[in-house]
Amino acid sequence: MVIGKPFLTVEQIQKRVKELALKISEDYEGKEVLSVGILKGAFMFFPDIVRHIQVPMNIDFLIASSYVKAQTSGAIKVHADLREDIKGKHVLLFEDIVDTGLTLKYIKDMLAARNPASLKICTFLDKKSSRKADLDLDYIGFSIPDHFVVGYGLDFDNKFRNLPYISIFKERT
Ligand code: IMP
Repeated sequence: MVIGKPFLTVEQIQKRVKELALKISEDYEGKEVLSVGILKGAFMFFPDIVRHIQVPMNIDFLIASSYVKAQTSGAIKVHADLREDIKGKHVLLFEDIVDTGLTLKYIKDMLAARNPASLKICTFLDKKSSRKADLDLDYIGFSIPDHFVVGYGLDFDNKFRNLPYISIFKERT
């Protein structure tokens, strides 16, 4: 088990987070947003980005999981649902990483059925080459190759989430 040097440094991450926040602030100007952090993975990305977004917002959280260690279990479980009623609201979901896209597709479909005014996705990382679900991503921090990465909220076996940077955990074969 080896954690190498940063694949994305603290500086690269914080610069990109601010750029994304600026774009979101422009796109949602004049609107109120319900920002939803998807836990546990977005627990670092979410507070980092929302503090730079310059539109009025409410905050909520959703706890979901799909992975067992480095392999998908295939099942998506919502451990804690939103507290807010999202009907008629502009909902923006914040996710750590989109891999197959099955988790966010499940969550997006579940929330879309509650009739929000709009429903968009902001992901810190995108592993597009692994995609299985048909899913549009509205805001992407970094597109990365199909490596298993840890840090900045991302875990392997619930470890390494506290690293302030992104590291490659192991290559998939
Ligand atoms: P998806 O349903 O395959 O898109 O998987 C999404 C979830 O899998 C993410 O929210 C992460 O929790 C986890 N995941 C996917 N790839 C990685 C990775 O490279 N490192 C850590 N977790 C990952």
